[in-house]
Amino acid sequence: MILCLADVLTAEAVAELLSLTAGGSWTDGTRTAGWAAREVKRNRQLAKGTAAAEAAAIVRAGLEAHQVFRAASLVRRMRDPMFARYEAGEEYGLHVDDALMGSGPDPLRTDLSVTVFLSPPSAYDGGELVLDSPAGEQTIKLDAGSAVLYPSTFLHRVAPVTRGERRVAVTWVQSLVRSVEQRAILFDLDQARRDLFAREGRSPAFDLIAKSYANLLRLWAES
Ligand code: NI
Repeated sequence: MILCLADVLTAEAVAELLSLTAGGSWTDGTRTAGWAAREVKRNRQLAKGTAAAEAAAIVRAGLEAHQVFRAASLVRRMRDPMFARYEAGEEYGLHVDDALMGSGPDPLRTDLSVTVFLSPPSAYDGGELVLDSPAGEQTIKLDAGSAVLYPSTFLHRVAPVTRGERRVAVTWVQSLVRSVEQRAILFDLDQARRDLFAREGRSPAFDLIAKSYANLLRLWAES
């Protein structure tokens, strides 16, 4: 499931992120790419430091507060958001994200990849996120403050930027529910129970859907 989410960050939060990250130090993006992705990655990334940590906390808070993001991803763990910039001539060729991230005995399994757009679409030409999905190529370029959530299993790329600058935050989620099909069923049921509740409040039908949601989550969640 590919999901575009509006209003993950307010205009004020985006402005704060742009100013926070402007002062940081930007390094060659190949330093954080896997060995194969390194060959096709041409961008810059914000180096670790105070500005990056503060900016990451803002993005994380925006995602965690977004009801649809929570319902669709069922986050168990989220990687600290990273910040990338692409200027004219830069791109990220076709690649798949690493399956496991982080060192040590308990790496994060990437179930979902997230891109949060920080530049308005008018600020750059090209720079679309292109997802190689089972339904064909999906091309995504969203408003500043919006995000796209997609299965980390997809091959994907960032088209070359031909004008201006594209800034994004990217992160990865390990979900409580590993299966993309099970997550989709839970997401549908969750939206259905919320719709029903908004229309008629508690009812026998609402209780049954709520019970089914809770019991499927109990069956499928890894904790
Ligand atoms: Ni990627």
